[in-house]
Amino acid sequence: DRSIKIAPSILAADFANFGQEIEAVEAQGADWIHVDVMDGHFVPNITFGPDMCKAIRPHIKTIMDVHLMIAPVDPYIDAFAEAGADFITAHLEAGPHIHRTLQAIRGAGAKAGLALNPGTPVEGIGSLLDMVDLVCIMTVNPGFGGQKFIQSQIEKVRTLRSMIGDRPIHIEIDGGVDPTTAPLVTAAGADVLVAGSAVFKGGSVRNPAPYGDNIAAI
Ligand code: DX5
Ligand code: ZN
Repeated sequence: DRSIKIAPSILAADFANFGQEIEAVEAQGADWIHVDVMDGHFVPNITFGPDMCKAIRPHIKTIMDVHLMIAPVDPYIDAFAEAGADFITAHLEAGPHIHRTLQAIRGAGAKAGLALNPGTPVEGIGSLLDMVDLVCIMTVNPGFGGQKFIQSQIEKVRTLRSMIGDRPIHIEIDGGVDPTTAPLVTAAGADVLVAGSAVFKGGSVRNPAPYGDNIAAI
């Protein structure tokens, strides 16, 4: 399914009200819910783990898209799968054994995602494409919401789209997606757009009205 899907990142939501925040954005048309897991080691920020994913899962009617910015990854895959993750995305840069990690994700019953930092070339992942359901091109350096979109990554999206051919692999864009940058990446071949600050805009469920406009605007 190559239709464009918007995946609000709850990194920009009200951390004291994830359940209601998720229900609010789904009511306004969110296609997937993007969950940013950070460990203070692979990235310089800490968010939450599998227990939090399990707690929010009943509030998600769509797809739980879990982005692991952690190293090591392998010891935690089963816990995130058991927490109800539909997609589990690991970083190529998170360790020396990405092939094993991707095998383990599918082995745990989840769809496998492969994320690439802005400094990582896409040309090397050809031998992994039969093992993944999603490739995430980071358009910011991972760790924080609200950063500026890195234009140089658009060419990687175009390259990846031609490498994928007719395989059913999603191309996800993560970082700095807003109404200005979204058309650039969809034109290059992306179909899943993660958006944190552009959706939540520092709001909360106490002020849900803007969410629908924000999602529609992307
Ligand atoms: C960054 C995270 C992103 C982040 C995007 O490390 O992976 O998912 O929430 O936030 P915005 O849309 O604000 O750039
Ligand atoms: Zn993310």
